Formats: sequence, structure tokens, C-alpha cells
Amino acid sequence: TDRYAVVGNPISHSKSPQIHMAFARQTQQDIHYEAILAPQNEFQSTVNTFRQQGGKGMNITVPFKQEACQIAASLTERARIAGAVNTFKFADGHIQGDNTDGAGLIRDITINLKIPVTGKRILLMGAGGAARGVILPLLQQHPTRLVIANRTPQKAQLLQQQFSEFGPVIASGYMDLPGECFDIIINATSASLNNALPELPSKIFTTDTLAYDMMYSTEPTRFLNYAAQQGVRHLADGIGMLVEQAAESFYLWRGIRPDTRNIITNLKKI
Ligand code: ATR
Repeated sequence: TDRYAVVGNPISHSKSPQIHMAFARQTQQDIHYEAILAPQNEFQSTVNTFRQQGGKGMNITVPFKQEACQIAASLTERARIAGAVNTFKFADGHIQGDNTDGAGLIRDITINLKIPVTGKRILLMGAGGAARGVILPLLQQHPTRLVIANRTPQKAQLLQQQFSEFGPVIASGYMDLPGECFDIIINATSASLNNALPELPSKIFTTDTLAYDMMYSTEPTRFLNYAAQQGVRHLADGIGMLVEQAAESFYLWRGIRPDTRNIITNLKKI
């Protein structure tokens, strides 16, 4: 049995063990996957202990993704540019770091929801770690424009500078968003965690807009409720992205791509 784990703080509510064990059953892989709580200042020692016990790989979640980027011996391009790592593979005695979050988001939008990103006007809300991780994968789909709006506009401007070489990125505040609507609006802020929502111009939504919240909870988030009030019909929470980033990690470790459909459907029912 090969051992894997997700490490974070807090971790008790993580759905990753359930998702990966379902992948393993489906693909008949003999693995065990557990959740590990690391104290705030003991991330590295927690990782080392798990490796010494024979662990083959790990997922990394809040608040350790940036630190994980520091301790990886090698990084994939997408992890390096995101500045964050959500997947370790322990191979040949060293730690390989990857980031499957952006790929998970793109797969959920384009394959599961069947909404192409290519040629679309995208609004990304937020300029923290979660937003940064999905910018390059979004630009690689060739949207017409990617507007990054943030409460602190300077942070969006820094991202504009960093990512402009990869595609058409524009930084903005929320209320000074250009008077235009968007095809896809992605909430990558942590506001939903506090049941908060930045004030948004109502013009940004059309009935055909996809409103996508990278967060998920048992109740629809404030952002999705607000979008629905504006007449938006296509609403999605982050469960699909969660399962797809897990599938990308599983593929990296095991070389097999699990079928995600049933697992997403089951998790959305809860
Ligand atoms: P994460 O890793 O989840 O992205 P983060 O790096 O702390 O966490 O970033 C949090 C993001 O959510 C930021 O874009 C933050 O906006 P600021 O940069 O202006 O702080 C945004 N955010 C959090 N709470 C918010 C709120 N109530 N309204 C608007 N934006 C909020």
C-alpha cells in the first residue's frame, strides 16, 4: 500500500481523503490517503516525517502552499509561476512540487460545465494566493481579456505586471470596473469564508454569465446568491475544481486519470 496525505491547518474538514480513496477504488490502486494537521511552524518537519515513513506524495492546503513552494527541490513551470505548490511527489530522494489548482479550475469550467474560456471576457475577483494560482492556466486558454479586480487595487496591479507577458491582463478595483459585462466571473477572494462580498457594479453580469465561486460550503455562497439575484443562470461552486485538482494530483502520482463525474455529483448532493 502506497501512502499519501493532505497537510494543512485546519484540516479536519478536508474532503481530499474521501476523494482520493474513491479514485483509488475506481482505478483499483492500492493506496492509503490520510489528512495530517501540521502546527503553523512545523510544516517542514511534518512533511519530512511523512517522507521518512515511506509516504509517496502529499497535497498541501491552506496555509502552507507558499511554504511548500520554498521547500520543493524542483518545481513545474505552473507551480513556479503560481508561486504556490499544492502537490508534492516524493521521487528519487527529492521533493517535486507541482500546482494542479489552475488545471482543475480549467477542467471544471471547460469539460464539466462545457463552457469554453477561449475568446471570452473573464473577471477574476481577488489577488491573493488563490487568484494567482489560476491566472496562467486561464491565460493559456486565450480569453479576449482577463480583468483582475481586487479590494486593494495595488495587488491586482502587481499581478498585471507579472502576468502581462502571458496574455491580456488588466488590473482594476471593483467599483471602477470598466462599464462592461463578462462571460465568466470567478470569485477567488476569501470573502465567502466570512460570508462577505465586495460591492460589485450590477452591469458586470448578463443572464448568460457563468458565476463561479472557488469556495464551497453546504449553503450557496454570498457571491452565488448575489449573482442569482442579478439574473445569472449559470452558477458553480468550487466542488468541481476541488475534485479536478485532486484528479490531476492522482494522475501525477499514479499515471491514471480517474473519472470525476460521479464523485462531483455525490459531493454536490451533500
Ligand atoms: P487566498 O490564499 O485564499 O487567496 P489571501 O492570499 O489572503 O488568501 O487573499 C485573500 C483575497 O481575498 C485577497 O484578494 C483579499 O483582498 P485584499 O487583497 O484587498 O485583502 C480578498 N478578500 C478577503 N476578504 C475580502 C472582503 N471582505 N472583500 C473583498 N475582498 C476580500
